[in-house]
Amino acid sequence: MDKIYAVYNSRFNYLDEIKISPLSRAYTFSDSVYEVIPFCNSDLIAFEKHINRLEKSCNALNLSLDIEKTSKEICELITKSELINGYVYYQVSRGIDTIRSHIFEDLLSVETFGYVVNHIFKPQKLKVMICEDLRWQRCDIKSTSLLGNVLSMNDAKNHGCDEVIMHKNNILTEGGASNVFFASEDTVFTPALSNNILPGITRELLINEIKKSGITVEEGEYNINDLKAAHSIWLTSSTKGLAEVINVLDIDIRLVEGHSIFQKCEKIFVEKFLSSS
Ligand code: PDD
Repeated sequence: MDKIYAVYNSRFNYLDEIKISPLSRAYTFSDSVYEVIPFCNSDLIAFEKHINRLEKSCNALNLSLDIEKTSKEICELITKSELINGYVYYQVSRGIDTIRSHIFEDLLSVETFGYVVNHIFKPQKLKVMICEDLRWQRCDIKSTSLLGNVLSMNDAKNHGCDEVIMHKNNILTEGGASNVFFASEDTVFTPALSNNILPGITRELLINEIKKSGITVEEGEYNINDLKAAHSIWLTSSTKGLAEVINVLDIDIRLVEGHSIFQKCEKIFVEKFLSSS
């Protein structure tokens, strides 16, 4: 495997040469936030939106990040890697404790870490499992505390699935690492933003673009029965783009694979964000 370019506390290095302290609060408490920023044909996709969301996540944890420096590091990682398509993972933790303690010391310096990898944005067809959303009540923060997502997604994998669609008391929230959309013949539905879902950048870009093309999008509160009535379901994320769901485990849904409304939305997204102009 090629060497992976990384940056730790503003020092560039290869990923496998970076050493971190086990007392990093990212390691002991998941006291950290992150971003995944995609680029395609050497163009960053919605860079400003990702940077703004990182800033919001940092603010929610009261972390003070030099956002200018972070933006430069992200761009420099991509330049150094010479990759054309890929994404940058960038994480900010509260810092390194002297000894593990829930209550952090006042003067910790934030700890930053990023790397860049090659990634090809290709169409995917997914099998998903519906599951109870096990997570906390601030899923709008892009925190690295992802244990609920990790357990559910691996349970899904053990059932032959690629992803999950989660619900809290029957109200749909999101995927394990994606936002959820479903559609009838002519309307696209997606759970409205709340504390229970991440405000996905791909979600936002897609909604804006498909609305411009005249497609009706409704953001609201939906349940599993609404999903069962759908003709098409798809998931969105910075690494998946739009990924069509073709099968939902143990649920009787008559999905139409490659439904025209999905194809329209996918085309709009790919033409706008994933093709060279
Ligand atoms: N995850 N919801 C969750 C829980 C996610 O983890 C993600 C993305 C999304 C979609 O957000 P966006 O469109 O901004 O990527 C929604 C990233 C890709 C990850 O953790 O790897």
